[in-house]
Amino acid sequence: MKASKTILQALALIYSILKSNSVALSLVFVSLLRNHKPRTHSKLAMITLKNVHLAYTAAGRSIPVLSGASLSVAQGESVAIIGPSGSGKTSLLLVLTGLETPDSGSVVFDDVDLHTQSKDARADFRRDKIGIVFQNFHLIPSLTARENVALPLDIAGGEDARGRAADQLERVGLGHRVDHYPNAMSGGERQRVALARALIHQPSLVVADEPTGNLDNQTGDAVADLLFELNQKNNASLILVTHDPALAARCQRQVRLHEGQLKPVDA
Ligand SMILES: Nc1ncnc2c1ncn2[C@@H]1O[C@H](COP(=O)(O)OP(=O)(O)OP(=O)(O)O)[C@@H](O)[C@H]1O
Ligand SMILES: [Mg+2]
Repeated sequence: MKASKTILQALALIYSILKSNSVALSLVFVSLLRNHKPRTHSKLAMITLKNVHLAYTAAGRSIPVLSGASLSVAQGESVAIIGPSGSGKTSLLLVLTGLETPDSGSVVFDDVDLHTQSKDARADFRRDKIGIVFQNFHLIPSLTARENVALPLDIAGGEDARGRAADQLERVGLGHRVDHYPNAMSGGERQRVALARALIHQPSLVVADEPTGNLDNQTGDAVADLLFELNQKNNASLILVTHDPALAARCQRQVRLHEGQLKPVDA
């Protein structure tokens, strides 16, 4: 629709240039062409973690989790983060999305240093740009599936949030569960509601923590297809944590979290 409108506008412009034989109009047209950037997949880093350190304190003891973790992900790239349970993958995603503040190091997203921003600015940034599928879903128990999914759009003032939420639930195979509350859904269904909520505003970065962890193979494949569809069609970056080697292998790159640092996994 948008593309055909642009083509029509371009044709109208060419026609008026030819008709008027105007030098000024020709110059405008040439400058428009010069400024037109083809939609190539940029290889510039969209998000960069540099030398991130994070330790938790529990029972008076410091638990080091990230010890100089660095990662750079380009626009449109898909990266799998792998590593054993307890190695710090979820913690890394929390730092990456600005939900946890590192002890040192930086997270730069689209030239914005996330952790130098105020909490509110970080929340706005996250809402606009990032879709997060949490490992434990974080659905709001007092809202139905449809209301949970509509929430990010409602907050952002998007149009027809309820209708779009129902469509998104349909796409994850939950068209028949839109009015269910989270506690009346299975683990896998809740996971798919969380996915629908993360994708509804078509974010430029999707971060997913074990997005297929609770799903049977067939549903897991369908959910993974949705993630990669957004990645490829919208050129959204995708960072996912998984214990599933087949899902990790679908990403362009794999990195392993080991002793608090990220190392490339050889193909
Ligand atoms: N809030 C917290 N306070 C103290 N320790 C924590 C806290 N959150 C996580 N940890 C500890 O930090 C380590 C890393 O936890 P994290 O959840 O990041 O691991 P993970 O790699 O995601 O594991 P899994 O694959 O089981 O999900 C674990 O040893 C965990 O016990
Ligand atoms: Mg985890």
